[in-house]
Amino acid sequence: MESVRDAVDDVREEIAAAVRRLDVAAARATYWAQNEFLVLERALPAALVERFVADVDRTRPLLHRNYIPRHKKGGSVSYHTLVEQAPAILALYRAPAFLEFLAAVTGRGLTHCPDRDPHACALYFYTEPGDHIGFHYDTSYYKGNRYTVLLGLVERSSSRLVCQLYKDDPARPLQELRLTTDPGMLVLFNGDKLWHSITPLGADEERISLTMEFVTDPSMTPVKRLFSDLKDAFAYFGLRSVFHSRRARRR
Ligand SMILES: [Fe+2]
Repeated sequence: MESVRDAVDDVREEIAAAVRRLDVAAARATYWAQNEFLVLERALPAALVERFVADVDRTRPLLHRNYIPRHKKGGSVSYHTLVEQAPAILALYRAPAFLEFLAAVTGRGLTHCPDRDPHACALYFYTEPGDHIGFHYDTSYYKGNRYTVLLGLVERSSSRLVCQLYKDDPARPLQELRLTTDPGMLVLFNGDKLWHSITPLGADEERISLTMEFVTDPSMTPVKRLFSDLKDAFAYFGLRSVFHSRRARRR
């Protein structure tokens, strides 16, 4: 049987091969033409996505559900859980070739979020009717810019990722896209620039996506850290995941 370490090595090689197949110059041109927003259909091959979906199935019993009236409803699995239970997903997040690709497209010196950040990479489960998230920016609480990579993993739904481009640019007309995030589809954007939402899930539907965060400067002021922690605890992963996991790691 394949060991976890062999599997991680395989994933890393498959990611490097997938990234080599992408047209970096074209991706970069499109990203900048669209105000730091890019969609790549089938960016990662089905065999690789299957490995990530196996991680999804392993972590599904551990998801934390939350509900904020009129803003969001759904389940999430934090980075802290993925570190322990999702080796293929972690291999993607940490793959040097993947980071190099993102840095080349954005033209920024990107790095991973600190290990303490439960959003560094996380799974979002839309599994019950009405699961959704309202319009928002992926605001950076870091001193540097924050970039989001969204990867579609399971798509059996009528939900759409609604993106409003140029909302922060009065010189350009607003453009709205309604995307089906099919398995293997990758969306990359600057979190402070893209106004986006997920429309409500219908009955007997399911949509699961992975998001990964990268930053230009991972430092954060204490006040913003507290605000960020409280938001994560109440809106996403629960007090236990955000604060207890941190204490456990300190010990
Ligand atoms: Fe978001």
